[in-house]
Amino acid sequence: MKIGFFDSGLGGLTIMDAVRAAMPQYDYYYYGDTAHVPYGDKTEAEVYELTKAGVTHLFEQGALIVIIACNTASAETLRKLQDTFLVEAYPDRRILGMIIPTIETLLAAGSTKPLLIGTKRTVDSGKYQIELDKVSETHIALQSLATPTLVPYLEAKSSNKACAELTQLLHAYAHPFDALILGCTHYTILTDCVRNQYGDQCVVLSQDEIIPTKLQEYLSRHPTLEHALTKGRNTTCYYSGASHTI
Ligand code: DGL
Repeated sequence: MKIGFFDSGLGGLTIMDAVRAAMPQYDYYYYGDTAHVPYGDKTEAEVYELTKAGVTHLFEQGALIVIIACNTASAETLRKLQDTFLVEAYPDRRILGMIIPTIETLLAAGSTKPLLIGTKRTVDSGKYQIELDKVSETHIALQSLATPTLVPYLEAKSSNKACAELTQLLHAYAHPFDALILGCTHYTILTDCVRNQYGDQCVVLSQDEIIPTKLQEYLSRHPTLEHALTKGRNTTCYYSGASHTI
């Protein structure tokens, strides 16, 4: 069986590529919902239905574990999918998200003044603060900034424009921060852009650098799942709309 990845478009590919580089032996299947990108300004109900459809597709294609490589979908659907849909329809499968591994990494970095940037849906959901409060021994007030103009540039492969836009937004942001969470998988493409400018003053958390290790740790804690994963080194990509390569 395969490891599946779900995202609204291009962002999740960066996560899958990083996982494949770390663990090339497995079989992978990617679902990019490019017919409906961006998710960041959709309603919670819309994001839930689209994500459930994508996850169902991945399970039907033989995914044992689905990684929702999308913060917006992780924020709005993960707990609900795990607690209801998975239990009722696919009890032997697993769905994992982006937020908890990122928060664990944030805490390990010792940040006390983190800033999250992400889509409007991710920021409005408050899920990062909720999950942070569950695991942090002290209260850490998460600052957040919605940056909805970036995904359209990144889907159009205009990373220079996205970098210029993000630079402007961060320059205008008046409050100090000691960690910057790139809380949208599309933003992994902007890691160098922000590290070049803010790398001296804060830790930059990019999820393509977080998820491979976290998944390796997860598989070593769950050997039965690991044994059920086929080791054929195959990758399939499926797009509901326009296709992408990076
Ligand atoms: N890449 C996604 C995320 O991590 C979604 C971006 C979008 O579709 O708006 O939030």
